[in-house]
Amino acid sequence: MLSTRFLASVLALQPIFVQAEDGPLLYQTYCSACHGAAGQGGAEGAAPPLAKSLWAQGDPDRMIKVVLHGLMGEIEVLGKEYNLVMPPQGAVLNDGQIAAILTHVRSFGNGGGKVPFERVAAVRAKFEEREAYWKGDELLKEHPLPSPPGPLKNLIRKFYALPKEQRSMPDYAKLEENASASQPKGLISLEGYSEQDHFGLVWEGELTVKREGEFSFSLDSDDTSALFVDGEKVVEVPGLGGMGRTKTGKVSLHPGVAKIRVEYLEFTGYTGIAASWSGPGVRGNQLLSTSEVAKKAKPSIKMIELKPEGTRAVHYRNFIAGTGNRSFSVGYPGGVNLVFNQENCGLELIWPGRFIDAGPRWNNRGTVRSFPLSGQVYHLQKGNPYPGRTFSFQGMELDDHEYPTFCYSVDGLSVRDRPQPAEKGIERTLTIESKRAGELVFAPISQSVTGLTLEGRGLTAREDGTFHLPLRKGDNSFTFHYGIQ
Ligand code: HEC
Repeated sequence: MLSTRFLASVLALQPIFVQAEDGPLLYQTYCSACHGAAGQGGAEGAAPPLAKSLWAQGDPDRMIKVVLHGLMGEIEVLGKEYNLVMPPQGAVLNDGQIAAILTHVRSFGNGGGKVPFERVAAVRAKFEEREAYWKGDELLKEHPLPSPPGPLKNLIRKFYALPKEQRSMPDYAKLEENASASQPKGLISLEGYSEQDHFGLVWEGELTVKREGEFSFSLDSDDTSALFVDGEKVVEVPGLGGMGRTKTGKVSLHPGVAKIRVEYLEFTGYTGIAASWSGPGVRGNQLLSTSEVAKKAKPSIKMIELKPEGTRAVHYRNFIAGTGNRSFSVGYPGGVNLVFNQENCGLELIWPGRFIDAGPRWNNRGTVRSFPLSGQVYHLQKGNPYPGRTFSFQGMELDDHEYPTFCYSVDGLSVRDRPQPAEKGIERTLTIESKRAGELVFAPISQSVTGLTLEGRGLTAREDGTFHLPLRKGDNSFTFHYGIQ
């Protein structure tokens, strides 16, 4: 006998079966009694509206879960609170029917688009065992509501690549943009550009002014920015510098459409822009940008300094400016730090003093590189430290003080590579296990480095800066001293 579950999945795989579902008709039968024929909501608040409901937009799994297992408890829809119960429909409706109904619900001003039945089938399978109704906050944790569009209508953003010496706002009207794109989110944002240097952006959009009166516009940026209303400059953040330099300007406006233009210049380093407005008919201080206006004198990018504790080293695995993508950084007690690159088994950077500011990383959700907290960083290795050989990184061991030993193989030789702090710098010991006698060429740095002294204990460097390591059968040990000021 076929199990019903097997049968259900066979049915779900029949595309004709799915296409035959009549979304509008099914909606009238199973949903409209509570939610209204056009999703306008039930009479006297008996059920919340589905039309233009954020719950019915974005990730379809949220709605799918509601229909399959029901919903109870507090929710907010279109600014109104509900605390009701919607019964589950998963046992009555199959995957194709639910997909057709939700595709119809999407047409109630919810962005349109098809909800595929595979999605319904996947959610049903995943929560097969579930019996409980969903709670609103439980669903929102997993499927946050999409943010409503911002106040700037018909917003476009133009991008300008600027020359390196451009330190003040150019006359954008005289420049040709390199790219231009509409911004349906209706908010000023640096999305896509936040990591670049030497560029400009110009946003142009429209604000609806409901009532006559005086309006305030606030602006903050890293680096320079200016905001114009109907062609008139209302506020600017001049000069180069970080966030936290908020300026405010006022302008009188009549009801209707106000044309907004924001110009921005990024020189180097961190980026940021924040704008908002307030005035008659505007709820509070409404954001015109994706980020909030930084409070005065408080940098929006907080510094998070990582420090070694006691006799223990501290580690950092994320991107560091000026290094490879798989770099591992270590800050040793006593104030010497390094970056080891797992891609080429090289010691990439060393620097004295403080370790790393992890702030950009945490504050920018991960895409920005962090910076060594030192003006004096020694760049040691770019290329292959074992010229002509191939290597593969195998892993890392940590001792009681969290000092790492990097383990890798070089053409069949197994190498344990342990750096540690030493007088005025780093001592790096290579323990190489060899199956036979031979020689290994090692380049501890790939370029000459000013201010660095390099010594191989008992070894002499060749003219090209490499060391030829004589290998006996068994374990061999070589120590190099990287001296910095
Ligand atoms: C018996 C009445 C009833 C029926 C039938 C019903 N719902 Fe609901 N629905 C509710 C109630 C009540 C809530 C709010 C529950 C709460 O307060 O937690 C709700 C909430 C929702 C929500 C989330 C909130 C919102 O308004 O966007 C969605 C989506 C939804 N229902 C879709 C449907 C769909 C699709 C159907 C038909 C398959 C359906 N409902 C059938 C009563 C019903």
